[in-house]
Amino acid sequence: MKPVQIGVIGAGRIGRLHAENLVRRRGVIVKAISDLYPEAAREWASSIGIPHVHVDYQEVLADPAIDAVLICSPTDTHVDVICAAARAGKAIFCEKPVSFDFRQTIDAIASVAHAGVPLQIGFNRRFDPNFRRVKEWVDAGKIGKVHSVKITSRDPSPPSPEYVRSSGGLFVDMTIHDFDMARYLSGSDITEVYAAGGVLIDPAIGEMGDIDTAMISLKFANGAFGMIDNSRKAAYGYDQRVEVFGMDGCITADNDYPSSAQLYDGNGVHREKPKYFFLERYSVSYIQELDEFIAAVRGEGAVPVSGNDGLQAELAAYAARLSLKDGRPVKLEPIAATKGRFAG
Ligand SMILES: NC(=O)c1ccc[n+]([C@@H]2O[C@H](COP(=O)([O-])OP(=O)(O)OC[C@H]3O[C@@H](n4cnc5c(N)ncnc54)[C@H](O)[C@@H]3O)[C@@H](O)[C@H]2O)c1
Repeated sequence: MKPVQIGVIGAGRIGRLHAENLVRRRGVIVKAISDLYPEAAREWASSIGIPHVHVDYQEVLADPAIDAVLICSPTDTHVDVICAAARAGKAIFCEKPVSFDFRQTIDAIASVAHAGVPLQIGFNRRFDPNFRRVKEWVDAGKIGKVHSVKITSRDPSPPSPEYVRSSGGLFVDMTIHDFDMARYLSGSDITEVYAAGGVLIDPAIGEMGDIDTAMISLKFANGAFGMIDNSRKAAYGYDQRVEVFGMDGCITADNDYPSSAQLYDGNGVHREKPKYFFLERYSVSYIQELDEFIAAVRGEGAVPVSGNDGLQAELAAYAARLSLKDGRPVKLEPIAATKGRFAG
């Protein structure tokens, strides 16, 4: 079978992770990367056998041998790169969120549709084996009609204020995964968001205009309810749990641990903290999401996470910001008709 040839745009944390996963995969060639700082990327690229390093991503897009691109550059570049990649006829995998402005996301989705190329959004947590099993049991009707989804999503330590400034803030950068997980597990769109939040951990995050702690209540189109509990710092480590409750039962998924060993002694029962952070906790999901993207590029099925999935999570994030500011529940439906910007 002809190998799928890939270009990676943005060789930072997530771009390198994806490239390193792909070079180990049979039937895939990572032909080129682009990064604004190619000197830093060159040694790394050559160490894993990527032959071409460019500064300008247009050079990746101009290579007719490249079938697909992974967009792993900062969020504020995504829309321009998506539109250019679509014009170049490349299949596109784009990291979350698509943009800070959902109207631009709508435009990007339209240009992809016009070009007729696949677009997959990087909501990797859908591919976590724990959460996937929860979803399979929900879909198989094991708990009957879904009544509620509860998501606990707490980081082990807060990001730097500089990161907060450029990332778009808690709802757009972090909760965006949870909004998507809520839609995925409930099997329904979010219709209303009511967010409370504040700065309980790091005043520097507050000085950047963001929050570090949030409780978000959701309503879904199918009548179910949801709750997302976010913190930028859990003293006991990365806390990622879900619960789906329904007419006939309840499904839960607990944290993942480096080992299952437990120490019983005179002070109590002890175990290791959960796997450190997203790169460790979700390592399998990053491999699986690209396996399914490559299959879609080969024409073996549709992409498993669509541009609309990206848009719906962004709308929920926008609604959460508005809700926090105004202290009221916010419906998603009218939002798409208003102009919204998450950051800046
Ligand atoms: N799905 C996930 O779990 C996950 C995790 C981390 C980051 N992300 C997302 O991935 C994106 C990148 O995040 P990161 O943490 O890897 O950032 P990063 O800052 O570590 O890396 C970004 C890289 O892109 C390069 N870059 C900047 N502009 C570019 C351009 N025009 N062309 C090519 N390269 C360019 C930078 O030099 C840098 O090396 C963000 O949108 C972020 O939200 C997703």
